[in-house]
Amino acid sequence: MRYSEDIIEEVRSKNDIVDLIGGYVKLQRKGSSYFGLCPFHNEKSPSFSVSPGKQMYYCFGCGAGGNVFTFLMEYENYTFQEALKFLADRAGVALPEPVYTKEAREQADRRALLLEINKEAAKYFYVKLRSPEGTRAMEYLKGRGLSDETIRKFGLGYSDRFHNQLYRYLKQKKYTDEVLMESGLFNMDEKRGIYDKFWNRVIYPIMDANSRVIGFGGRVMGDAKPKYLNSPETLIFDKSRNLYGLHAARSSRRKNLIICEGYMDVISMHQAGFTNAVASLGTALTSQQASLLKRYTEEVLVIYDSDEAGVRAALRAIPMLRGAGLSTRVVNLKPHKDPDEFIQAEGTEAFEERLQEAENSFLYEIRILQQKYNMSDPQGKSDFFHAAASRLLEFEDEIERNSYLEAVSRTYGIETGALRKLVNRLALKGIGAEPREKPAGPPEGKKEKEDGIQKAQKLMLTWMTSYPEILPGLSRCITSRDFVTPLFRKVAEMVEEQYREGEVNPARIISRFEDGSQQSQVAELFNTKLSLENREEQRKALEDVICNMKESSLNYRISHLSPEDMQGLQRLMEEKKQLETLRETGLPADILPR
Ligand code: UTP
Ligand code: MN
Repeated sequence: MRYSEDIIEEVRSKNDIVDLIGGYVKLQRKGSSYFGLCPFHNEKSPSFSVSPGKQMYYCFGCGAGGNVFTFLMEYENYTFQEALKFLADRAGVALPEPVYTKEAREQADRRALLLEINKEAAKYFYVKLRSPEGTRAMEYLKGRGLSDETIRKFGLGYSDRFHNQLYRYLKQKKYTDEVLMESGLFNMDEKRGIYDKFWNRVIYPIMDANSRVIGFGGRVMGDAKPKYLNSPETLIFDKSRNLYGLHAARSSRRKNLIICEGYMDVISMHQAGFTNAVASLGTALTSQQASLLKRYTEEVLVIYDSDEAGVRAALRAIPMLRGAGLSTRVVNLKPHKDPDEFIQAEGTEAFEERLQEAENSFLYEIRILQQKYNMSDPQGKSDFFHAAASRLLEFEDEIERNSYLEAVSRTYGIETGALRKLVNRLALKGIGAEPREKPAGPPEGKKEKEDGIQKAQKLMLTWMTSYPEILPGLSRCITSRDFVTPLFRKVAEMVEEQYREGEVNPARIISRFEDGSQQSQVAELFNTKLSLENREEQRKALEDVICNMKESSLNYRISHLSPEDMQGLQRLMEEKKQLETLRETGLPADILPR
């Protein structure tokens, strides 16, 4: 669903940003901007600025920034559409029917069809479970302690012992083979043609947050392998953006959400009254799932299996959750393996106690870290304290750092003063926090180089939006080709387009990106301040920016040039010569800002 840019702009311009944010944050005028305490991080002195001129906000402390839409998206956890709707209502703008492109409409139809097929299949499995064929499956579920109500609430089902019953059922409802294959419910081979993916399994329908069935998990009723089969990803089933059980957990009255590993764990917790439990879908927790959780809660309890794999999964999930701005605690299930087993063995009250006792995620990380060191050896002990100190450096906020420092020194029996000295010494040496486990990225050296290019492009965009009048002259040295990062290139092109149309309007550019992290990156571009004393300084600075940007862009483009592209090479050589001339003769006066 997409609204036209004109309507988005109308809604944006009819909602004054100072007025809107003033309703959430106490703002005080300082010069041409307003300042207040940032609602997106903890602070004591105001570094959150709102600019009526640019109609944007930016926090110099944490880097949050954007326009009225992004503010609501961050503050209220709204999607772009929801923010648009809210602000349209607020300003009394009637939103028109959204415009669909032809492809978007086809996709929407396709999605609707796949949802319909999944719903039919879910009904089919549901009925089978209650038929004579489903007796054994029903006994299996009852044997695992599930009540009728729970089985109904999660829509559990059964796929019978024949390998094409579901296929025949859906064929008779006139779905084409093509769309049935796309649903992920079937396999195909030469011998058998199209046949059911799930047979003789207990079926767990997987629903999105709005209770629509988007896929299935199927479990064997014994010890055969594989234990679970799952629907593959389809147009409507994205495993990294959904969570099992969220449709029920989102309306739970409990104050936080529980993330665990298994379907059965979710079901078992809900049955025991812990209706705030969800699980990832057979894969490691993703950052999108963390953001999804953040839409519904501020705190997440991690309950992963108590084996080694579970600990590893928790250590990967914690930074992800932290990155989404969630406060996180880890639940200890020992000596039991998973929440389902724990509840069966010890009951609801004992489980509730474990939730209450859940450990702060940072202290959990430190405790796991400590297990790598031999604490009875003086050297091992001192190595551990160094490692812990470097982790403590991650806290930028002094109060926060201090309270963790005290907790660590208390727990591991080191004097607070000694640990603080160690932390301060590391800080002075500039040894940052130990790198956390990150998904594999480019090697370090390459990354630094790329950072240089990024910086040059960002600075250039700041110049372009702060002094749009330099654009015509600038185009003789820098073109959109020099913006090698796709996001920045897009922004550069938008700025140029706006200039041609008569007005450069940063807040409007942000609305054209719907992805939250892109919006923040773009907002950051428009809020960097150029503090320049006089014209000579200005000339020098702009010349530097142009030369740096050109040089890094040339290097980048040369190293990414295909060996056959002779024309491209020639053009690059010419541009290189131009750069040298520019360096010799200096920046032409007509490029300077007025
Ligand atoms: P578990 O083995 O912990 O499953 O796997 P569980 O939910 O506790 O199941 P029970 O209690 O044995 O019935 C955790 C999750 O990993 C995925 C499933 O999403 C499962 O819920 N998984 C596991 C698979 O996708 N395939 C498998 O073969 C096993
Ligand atoms: Mn289990």
